[in-house]
Amino acid sequence: MASKQKANVKGSQKTNQNVISKNKGSSGLVNTKKLNPENSVNPDSSNSDNLNTGISEENSKKVANALNQVLADEFVLYTKTLNFHWNIEGRDFHALHLFLDDQYNQLQLIIDSVAERVRKVGHFATGSMKEFLDSASLNEHSGAACVSENMIAELAADHDELIRKTRTLIDDFDEKYNDAGSADFITGIMKEHEKMAWMLRASGPQQMGK
Ligand SMILES: [Fe+2]
Repeated sequence: MASKQKANVKGSQKTNQNVISKNKGSSGLVNTKKLNPENSVNPDSSNSDNLNTGISEENSKKVANALNQVLADEFVLYTKTLNFHWNIEGRDFHALHLFLDDQYNQLQLIIDSVAERVRKVGHFATGSMKEFLDSASLNEHSGAACVSENMIAELAADHDELIRKTRTLIDDFDEKYNDAGSADFITGIMKEHEKMAWMLRASGPQQMGK
């Protein structure tokens, strides 16, 4: 998968890399209980003792925990988008199949950038499906595929949830944890989800059937 995706990503990479480079350093997320930095995922996984960046160990750990929770949600949404890419049916199949291909490639880039942001703040990124599922707030889509209208609506709603969560992290990272770089990063991630949610709604079956 890696090499094909890398090839595919190149086309859409500009978009994502623009976001990521415009917001260098960003990652971001959440505000619910699960995504509360205080409740985190890998609290003790750290090599931040060697960093001297002006951010306290305690704060960098909270930022990393919040980022790992975002990472978990991104992975759930990535998997769901792949699921729908594979299983979507109907007269709009071809257009939606290709459209969702582009969307999951964009999510793959986001996932990579969030994980690497965790490393940049001195901690280890979550890397197992079990940990992702344990900490994600988004729900998987199990069982039979639903109709295309519902698939698109479900994906758009998940992007909206990530937009809300990342928006709350902007101020947390900047004001509570003194990490302007991560605040900037998470702003970029929020903007990516805003764009993807817009494209989902604009490209849904109803629009295509017009
Ligand atoms: Fe495919």
